[in-house]
Amino acid sequence: MTILIQTAPSPRAADENVALQKLATELDAKLAGLSSLEDRIRLIAALVPGRVSFSSSLGIEDQAITHAIATTRSNIDIFTLDTGRHFPETLDTLFETEGKYGIKIRVMYPDTTEVEQLVADDGIYGFRYSLDARKACCEIRKVHPLNRALNGASGWLTGLRREQSAGRQHVHFAAYDAAQGLIKLNPIADWTLAELEAYIADNKVPINALHAKGFPSIGCQPCTRAVRPGEDIRAGRWWWENENG
Ligand code: ADX
Ligand code: SF4
Repeated sequence: MTILIQTAPSPRAADENVALQKLATELDAKLAGLSSLEDRIRLIAALVPGRVSFSSSLGIEDQAITHAIATTRSNIDIFTLDTGRHFPETLDTLFETEGKYGIKIRVMYPDTTEVEQLVADDGIYGFRYSLDARKACCEIRKVHPLNRALNGASGWLTGLRREQSAGRQHVHFAAYDAAQGLIKLNPIADWTLAELEAYIADNKVPINALHAKGFPSIGCQPCTRAVRPGEDIRAGRWWWENENG
């Protein structure tokens, strides 16, 4: 994952961390043996002690997971990071999802003072001008709120799929993260795009309208473009960095 790589470790007793580590190994094997997403979600909710949090970007992968959490009524905290730079369609997806499932998605915002300082230093499109400026923007608008959202969680669910990029091809169903002191969980790690789309269609899951307009992967509006047929599914994310660098 490009952005969400650093989180602050939660203070936890050493023996609890050892137990989480052991559980992650067990869960990785058990999740691989289950074919339905609902069963995987139920297993995670049943076995991970303490709080399990799901970071939803409201993209197609994450909408499938939200559907499974909501319909199984699993005790999993769902949150999203509103960077302040989202497409209106992304916020429409948030609104529609809460309404359809009767759930609340916790919305995390960046620290006002940090954003004001960032824009004062780098300008409103500062992220376009250097990799450092882009990382600073993502740090303030995504990573810091993510750290707050995950504080105290034992499990962190994401919608990563191995097929999405070369960097994701070894993603585990469950893996203990020592630096963060929690179990990272990727319940659709093995899904192909065709499987994902079939699940969405079969279950009538609401998805971001931009997916039908050439946006397979959706992040902040100024940092995401549509992709051309045949292009890599993540080619539209921070595209100028790949093309120029
Ligand atoms: S990204 O890290 O480059 O943005 P991507 O859009 O594929 O990656 O999302 C991967 C995972 O990161 C998602 O499944 C989700 O768990 C998390 N994520 C990304 N953006 C957000 C967001 N705005 N809010 C919450 N979680 C997010
Ligand atoms: Fe900033 Fe772009 Fe990162 Fe969004 S994706 S936080 S606008 S650099």
